[in-house]
Amino acid sequence: MRTDRTFTMLKPDSVEKGHVGAILEKINASGFRIVAMKLTQMTTADAKEFYAVHSERPFYGELVEYMTRGPIVAAILEKDNAVDDFRTLIGATNPADAAEGTIRKLYAASIGENAVHGSDSDENAAIEGAFHFAGREMF
Ligand code: RTP
Ligand code: MG
Repeated sequence: MRTDRTFTMLKPDSVEKGHVGAILEKINASGFRIVAMKLTQMTTADAKEFYAVHSERPFYGELVEYMTRGPIVAAILEKDNAVDDFRTLIGATNPADAAEGTIRKLYAASIGENAVHGSDSDENAAIEGAFHFAGREMF
Protein backbone atom coordinates (compact mmCIF):
# COMPACT_ATOMS: atom_id res chain seq x y z
CA MET A 1 0.00 0.00 0.00
CA ARG A 2 1.55 3.34 -1.01
CA THR A 3 1.82 6.02 1.67
CA ASP A 4 2.55 9.07 -0.51
CA ARG A 5 -0.91 9.84 -1.88
CA THR A 6 -4.14 11.26 -0.50
CA PHE A 7 -7.45 12.31 -1.99
CA THR A 8 -9.20 15.65 -1.42
CA MET A 9 -12.38 17.43 -2.41
CA LEU A 10 -12.78 21.19 -2.22
CA LYS A 11 -16.43 21.02 -1.19
CA PRO A 12 -19.33 23.01 -2.75
CA ASP A 13 -18.99 25.89 -0.25
CA SER A 14 -15.36 26.43 -1.28
CA VAL A 15 -16.33 26.63 -4.95
CA GLU A 16 -19.35 28.88 -4.23
CA LYS A 17 -17.27 31.34 -2.18
CA GLY A 18 -14.41 31.53 -4.69
CA HIS A 19 -11.87 29.93 -2.33
CA VAL A 20 -10.52 27.35 -4.79
CA GLY A 21 -7.45 29.36 -5.86
CA ALA A 22 -6.41 30.25 -2.32
CA ILE A 23 -6.83 26.67 -1.08
CA LEU A 24 -4.86 25.18 -4.00
CA GLU A 25 -2.08 27.71 -3.39
CA LYS A 26 -1.88 26.60 0.24
CA ILE A 27 -1.84 22.93 -0.80
CA ASN A 28 1.02 23.55 -3.24
CA ALA A 29 2.94 25.71 -0.76
CA SER A 30 2.70 22.86 1.75
CA GLY A 31 4.61 20.53 -0.58
CA PHE A 32 1.84 18.50 -2.20
CA ARG A 33 2.06 17.71 -5.92
CA ILE A 34 -1.25 17.58 -7.81
CA VAL A 35 -1.48 14.14 -9.44
CA ALA A 36 -5.09 14.44 -10.68
CA MET A 37 -7.68 17.24 -10.54
CA LYS A 38 -11.11 18.17 -11.92
CA LEU A 39 -14.27 20.20 -11.34
CA THR A 40 -17.14 17.74 -11.02
CA GLN A 41 -20.50 17.33 -9.29
CA MET A 42 -21.51 14.28 -7.29
CA THR A 43 -24.93 12.73 -7.82
CA THR A 44 -26.98 11.73 -4.77
CA ALA A 45 -26.00 8.11 -5.40
CA ASP A 46 -22.31 9.11 -5.59
CA ALA A 47 -22.43 11.02 -2.29
CA LYS A 48 -24.34 8.26 -0.51
CA GLU A 49 -21.72 5.74 -1.62
CA PHE A 50 -18.75 8.01 -0.91
CA TYR A 51 -19.94 8.71 2.65
CA ALA A 52 -21.59 5.29 3.24
CA VAL A 53 -19.54 4.88 6.43
CA HIS A 54 -21.71 7.67 7.93
CA SER A 55 -25.07 6.27 6.76
CA GLU A 56 -26.34 5.68 10.32
CA ARG A 57 -25.25 9.11 11.58
CA PRO A 58 -27.90 11.83 12.14
CA PHE A 59 -26.11 14.24 9.78
CA TYR A 60 -25.99 11.82 6.80
CA GLY A 61 -28.95 13.37 4.93
CA GLU A 62 -27.62 16.91 5.36
CA LEU A 63 -24.15 15.76 4.32
CA VAL A 64 -25.46 14.22 1.09
CA GLU A 65 -27.52 17.37 0.33
CA TYR A 66 -24.49 19.59 0.93
CA MET A 67 -22.03 17.53 -1.09
CA THR A 68 -24.34 17.33 -4.13
CA ARG A 69 -25.63 20.91 -4.25
CA GLY A 70 -22.93 22.19 -6.61
CA PRO A 71 -19.58 21.41 -8.16
CA ILE A 72 -16.55 20.31 -6.19
CA VAL A 73 -12.86 20.19 -7.06
CA ALA A 74 -11.65 16.58 -6.71
CA ALA A 75 -7.90 15.97 -6.59
CA ILE A 76 -5.26 13.38 -5.79
CA LEU A 77 -2.21 14.79 -3.99
CA GLU A 78 1.29 13.36 -3.59
CA LYS A 79 3.77 13.94 -0.77
CA ASP A 80 5.61 11.74 1.75
CA ASN A 81 3.19 10.83 4.57
CA ALA A 82 0.39 12.37 2.49
CA VAL A 83 -2.68 11.28 4.48
CA ASP A 84 -1.52 12.49 7.89
CA ASP A 85 0.19 15.63 6.61
CA PHE A 86 -2.91 16.65 4.67
CA ARG A 87 -5.19 16.05 7.68
CA THR A 88 -2.86 18.34 9.65
CA LEU A 89 -3.05 20.98 6.90
CA ILE A 90 -6.87 20.95 6.78
CA GLY A 91 -7.42 20.96 10.56
CA ALA A 92 -10.17 19.53 12.76
CA THR A 93 -13.60 18.60 11.32
CA ASN A 94 -15.18 21.44 13.32
CA PRO A 95 -13.50 24.73 12.30
CA ALA A 96 -14.07 26.00 15.85
CA ASP A 97 -11.53 23.37 16.97
CA ALA A 98 -9.17 23.74 14.00
CA ALA A 99 -5.64 25.07 14.58
CA GLU A 100 -4.69 28.56 13.41
CA GLY A 101 -3.60 28.67 9.77
CA THR A 102 -5.33 25.43 8.78
CA ILE A 103 -7.58 25.39 5.73
CA ARG A 104 -10.71 24.75 7.78
CA LYS A 105 -9.83 27.50 10.26
CA LEU A 106 -9.42 29.92 7.36
CA TYR A 107 -12.25 28.85 5.05
CA ALA A 108 -14.83 26.60 6.80
CA ALA A 109 -18.11 28.03 8.10
CA SER A 110 -19.20 25.19 10.41
CA ILE A 111 -18.77 21.48 11.21
CA GLY A 112 -21.35 20.68 8.54
CA GLU A 113 -19.90 22.95 5.83
CA ASN A 114 -16.20 22.58 6.34
CA ALA A 115 -14.61 23.49 3.02
CA VAL A 116 -12.46 20.41 2.34
CA HIS A 117 -12.29 16.63 2.55
CA GLY A 118 -9.15 14.66 3.28
CA SER A 119 -8.84 10.85 3.22
CA ASP A 120 -8.42 9.26 6.67
CA SER A 121 -6.17 6.30 5.68
CA ASP A 122 -3.89 5.12 2.88
CA GLU A 123 -6.45 2.48 1.99
CA ASN A 124 -9.30 5.00 1.74
CA ALA A 125 -7.09 7.41 -0.24
CA ALA A 126 -6.69 4.72 -2.92
CA ILE A 127 -10.41 3.83 -2.89
CA GLU A 128 -11.54 7.48 -3.02
CA GLY A 129 -9.04 8.42 -5.75
CA ALA A 130 -10.26 5.52 -7.90
CA PHE A 131 -13.89 6.53 -7.20
CA HIS A 132 -13.31 9.87 -8.96
CA PHE A 133 -10.52 9.25 -11.47
CA ALA A 134 -9.61 6.80 -14.21
CA GLY A 135 -6.00 5.62 -14.34
CA ARG A 136 -5.32 7.75 -17.41
CA GLU A 137 -6.31 10.90 -15.45
CA MET A 138 -3.62 10.31 -12.79
CA PHE A 139 -0.20 11.82 -13.47
P1 RTP B 1 -14.09 14.48 5.66
O1 RTP B 1 -14.34 12.98 5.67
O2 RTP B 1 -15.07 15.23 4.81
O3 RTP B 1 -12.66 14.81 5.33
O4 RTP B 1 -14.29 15.04 7.15
P2 RTP B 1 -13.73 14.44 8.51
O5 RTP B 1 -13.01 13.15 8.25
O6 RTP B 1 -12.97 15.51 9.19
O7 RTP B 1 -15.07 14.18 9.31
P3 RTP B 1 -16.04 12.92 9.24
O8 RTP B 1 -16.29 12.48 10.63
O9 RTP B 1 -15.53 11.90 8.26
O10 RTP B 1 -17.38 13.56 8.69
C1 RTP B 1 -17.61 13.70 7.31
C2 RTP B 1 -18.27 15.02 7.03
O11 RTP B 1 -19.60 15.01 7.55
C3 RTP B 1 -19.95 16.33 7.94
N1 RTP B 1 -20.30 16.33 9.36
N2 RTP B 1 -21.31 16.99 9.84
N3 RTP B 1 -23.26 18.13 11.55
C4 RTP B 1 -22.32 17.34 12.06
O12 RTP B 1 -22.26 17.07 13.25
C5 RTP B 1 -21.33 16.77 11.16
N4 RTP B 1 -20.35 15.98 11.50
C6 RTP B 1 -19.69 15.69 10.34
C7 RTP B 1 -18.77 17.22 7.67
O13 RTP B 1 -18.89 17.80 6.36
C8 RTP B 1 -17.63 16.23 7.71
O14 RTP B 1 -16.50 16.70 7.05
MG1 MG C 1 -13.82 11.58 7.10
